[in-house]
Amino acid sequence: MNPFDRIFTRYKNFPEVDLSQGRSIAYSRSSTRRMMELIDANGHGNVHGGVIMRMVDESAAIVAIKHSQSPTVVTARVERFDFLAPAFIGDVVTVHCTMNYVGRTSMEVGVEVTAEDLIARETRKIASSYVIYVALDEDRKPRQVPPLVPADEEEAKVIELARQRRERRKKIDEEFKHLL
Ligand SMILES: CC(C)(COP(=O)(O)OP(=O)(O)OC[C@H]1O[C@@H](n2cnc3c(N)ncnc32)[C@H](O)[C@@H]1OP(=O)(O)O)[C@@H](O)C(=O)NCCC(=O)NCCS
Repeated sequence: MNPFDRIFTRYKNFPEVDLSQGRSIAYSRSSTRRMMELIDANGHGNVHGGVIMRMVDESAAIVAIKHSQSPTVVTARVERFDFLAPAFIGDVVTVHCTMNYVGRTSMEVGVEVTAEDLIARETRKIASSYVIYVALDEDRKPRQVPPLVPADEEEAKVIELARQRRERRKKIDEEFKHLL
């Protein structure tokens, strides 16, 4: 089958999502990893920030798709992106992503990135970020997603902190309107 037909058929037969069925943070947690190659770095062997950012966007989207069971999620915002230490050619970069908060149609995914030197057997935290996705329906309009229901106290704490960040973000956005 032509690959485009396969994609089309898959989208047309997508199962209905039960919106009353909440999901925990553990339900959608995901990590991806890749060894850094020559093409990922500059002449000094430092991995480009854009390479890490792309890995983060792709990995965090997996969490948003898993949680929402929506084939179309778009990045609405990258809230902070802190590069804490460099990564080098030969390092294995791992992007750890967890769902932190779910609104009606939007989802905040928390990201932590590590780089592992396989020879020295040393792992460093190299970046962190929060990425916000919005699920879209067939008309590309924001679509409701299942709620995030904490499985335990630790998850409840993560969700509460993210809720506070969202409130803070809204206030800052309001203030910024007057500064643009
Ligand atoms: C993201 C997008 C769908 C939002 O559309 P919109 O008409 O503004 O949607 P709404 O105002 O109804 O907001 C929908 C949700 O997104 C959230 N949202 C929208 N813009 C946001 C932003 N910049 N930052 C954080 N959250 C945002 C809203 O808070 C709301 O959340 P909730 O439903 O959980 O309460 C639209 O701006 C868009 O298509 N942007 C381009 C996305 C894109 O192409 N990304 C890059 C490639 S994937």
